[in-house]
This record gives sequence, C-alpha cells and structure tokens, in this order.
Amino acid sequence: MDLFEYQARDMFEAHGVPVLAGQTATTPEEAKAAAEQIGAKSGGVTVVKAQVKTGGRGKAGGVKVAKSADEAEQYAKDILGMDIKGHTVGTVMIAQGAKIAEEYYFSILLDRANRSYLAMCSKEGGVEIEQLAVERPEALARIEVDPNVGIDGAKADEIVKAAGFDDETAAKVAPVLVKLWETYRDEDATLVEVNPLVKTEDGDIIALDGKVTLDANAGFRHPDHEALEDKAAADPLEAKAKALDLNYVKLDGNVGIIGNGAGLVMSTLDVVAYAGEDFTGGKAKPANFLDIGGGASAEVMANGLDVILNDEQVKSVFVNVFGGITACDAVANGIVGALKKLGDAATKPLVVRLDGNNVEEGRAILSDFNHPLVTVVDTMDGAARKAAELAAAN
Ligand SMILES: Nc1ncnc2c1ncn2[C@@H]1O[C@H](COP(=O)(O)OP(=O)(O)OP(=O)(O)O)[C@@H](O)[C@H]1O
Ligand SMILES: [Mg+2]
Repeated sequence: MDLFEYQARDMFEAHGVPVLAGQTATTPEEAKAAAEQIGAKSGGVTVVKAQVKTGGRGKAGGVKVAKSADEAEQYAKDILGMDIKGHTVGTVMIAQGAKIAEEYYFSILLDRANRSYLAMCSKEGGVEIEQLAVERPEALARIEVDPNVGIDGAKADEIVKAAGFDDETAAKVAPVLVKLWETYRDEDATLVEVNPLVKTEDGDIIALDGKVTLDANAGFRHPDHEALEDKAAADPLEAKAKALDLNYVKLDGNVGIIGNGAGLVMSTLDVVAYAGEDFTGGKAKPANFLDIGGGASAEVMANGLDVILNDEQVKSVFVNVFGGITACDAVANGIVGALKKLGDAATKPLVVRLDGNNVEEGRAILSDFNHPLVTVVDTMDGAARKAAELAAAN
C-alpha cells in the first residue's frame, strides 16, 4: 500500500524523522486557514502540495510556494481538482516553507533479486533521480543493507561517505538515515524515499517530501495501518472481494478467471493471454486474478463468481480447477451450488476445466446439471481457447 505524502510525513514525525509542519485541506478556505496557522512559523511562506500517489507533482504544477495565506488559498483553488497523470487531486497539504540550501536524495527499498535491502543516497536530490541514475550513476551511492542489522550508526556513516558528503554535513545526515531506517523497519515498509532531503540555510536536515510503501502482508502486525487505506480510490470489485476474503486482483481484460492455487491461476492468466493472441487477435485477455484456494466450497465458488460476473468488462469466465485435497466432485458441486445460488444473476458463459482427484465424478456432476451457460473442456489449453473465443465473440 502506497501512502500519501502527508501520511508519510506524519509517520516520519512519529519516528523522530525531522519534518516541517503540514496540514491537509480539501477546500481553498481550509487551505487558507491552514496557511494562516502554519505560515506563522515561516514568515508567512507556505507550500501548497497536491496529494496524489504519483511522482512528478511539481512538474505538473502541483507544488506551489505561497507567500501569503491568500496566495495559498488561490493555489489550492488551482490545484484541487487538477488531474496529475490520471489522478484527480482531492486533497492538498499546506506545508511550512523551508529555506533550502541544498537538496539530497535518500531511499531504502526491498531488493528482491538480492534478498536484501538497498539504500540509495545522493548529494544531488530534488530533481529527476531516475535521470541522474541513468546519466551519472556514480552520483547515486547504492549500499546493500543486511536486513538482520539494518542501518545503525556505522552503516549510516558508510552510506553518507559513499554519497560523498563533506564531514560536517555527513555528521548531520547520518542520524536522520538511522531514523528513516527505523521507520522502514518498524512499519514493515518496502519503500521509504525522501526526495528531497534538504539542508536548510540554518544547517538543519529535514525530510521535505516522503514516499512510503507498506507491506500489506505484514498488515496483521499493524492494526493502525488500516486507517491509512484510501477507501475512496479502491476498486469497487477489489473492495467487494476483500470483504468476501477472496484473493482477487482486477485486471484489464474480458475473460474472468477462477482457479485454485496461486500458481495455477498465474499459469491460467498466461494461457488465456496466449490463446487471446493466437485465436482472437488480441481481443481476449484475462480480466482478473482470483485464487479461491484449497477448499473450493459452493459458497466460495459462488462468492468468486459473484465478483467476476459483476465485472462489466467480463464476457466469459474460465474456471480452472485442479482437484487435490478438495476433489473435483466437491468443486463441481460447488459450481452447481453457485449457479443455483446466483440464479438469473449468472448471465455469462462459463468454461470449466476440471482435472485431478475424482475428475470423472466431477465432470459427470456438471454434465448431469446440464446448465446452458456451462461448457466443460478437458484440457487447460482447450478451455483457455474456448473462453477466449467466447469473450471475443460476445
Ligand atoms: N516545504 C517546502 N518548502 C520549500 N520548498 C519546498 C517545500 N516542499 C517542496 N519544496 C520544493 O519543491 C520541490 C518539489 O517538491 P516535492 O519533492 O515535494 O514534489 P515533487 O518531487 O514534484 O513530487 P514527487 O516527489 O511526487 O515527484 C522540492 O524539490 C523543493 O525544492
Ligand atoms: Mg519529490
């Protein structure tokens, strides 16, 4: 889960990372009131910042320095409702204005390929860090961080040294890196990025912008993280699936997919994508990922079908189940039960491929049921092709 900048700011503050005052506003009037309060700390100067979960806000006109509360109100008027790379701005943050002397870059992220964490640091932050990494990679220090040790004082010293800070600045930046690491570790983040980390004219080091991604798999350790979710932006189908405790990810195509086991579902996405290319000229693509897990009961199957059939983009559904501990006859009964339960709500063709434990019994149950929307196909490739053809035709 990605956080908004203001949420990252609050999280930084809670972990002792130096930040400036900031307050959110959803109307120009609120922005003005916030600027009156916050500006008092910085000679009336505030910065109005669009809160969107995408980069490059500044370049898009979503970050403006206001010299008075009236100006902040005007900028809030301009920025609220603005579209930044497909994200509509619904909230701005009014931040205290900083007198910036230098802008740096720092991030910690999960380095999956190396099964480790990676810290990146540069004296040249603020601008396009991706561009810097490509054009002058030597200006961006990359230091591996042992997950068991993290960034302690010694590691922080190694990082600031690699980034080439002068001794005085290095001594001030290093403790902030330790605090940012503590945020990363204690919150179970997979990304903490500060761009820019600034040195003010007074010589203070401050995190002026923050990006934080939290690991949803660690959510059970952080009951407070749920409140950070952006419920308004959640895909309604994903929200529904989540409420039903289903492992569902919405994709962009028209073939609904249900399978048991994440690996099988992923290969199902692949075969449907291939079949869509080969037999329909790209007119059929997977519409979702849905793993109904081991115990594919009628209820779980009905819930899964319910979510998928409510996806307007879906034109056909491919149910791909390999019977293991839950045998194929139980799965077939699940499908029958689901279709009975859904009644007239089931309106799209279903292609079912069953294999594994008790496959004959399972197929017999479906053939006895003889539902007009259900086609049973013996092989995974054949079923994928059928589902793709039905989706392309409908
Ligand atoms: N509180 C502040 N006071 C003074 N200047 C600021 C403040 N916040 C941001 N700035 C200036 O605006 C620039 C852009 O701000 P920021 O990094 O928050 O947005 P951005 O980089 O455009 O957005 P993103 O990180 O989403 O791409 C900073 O590099 C800094 O120079
Ligand atoms: Mg930035």
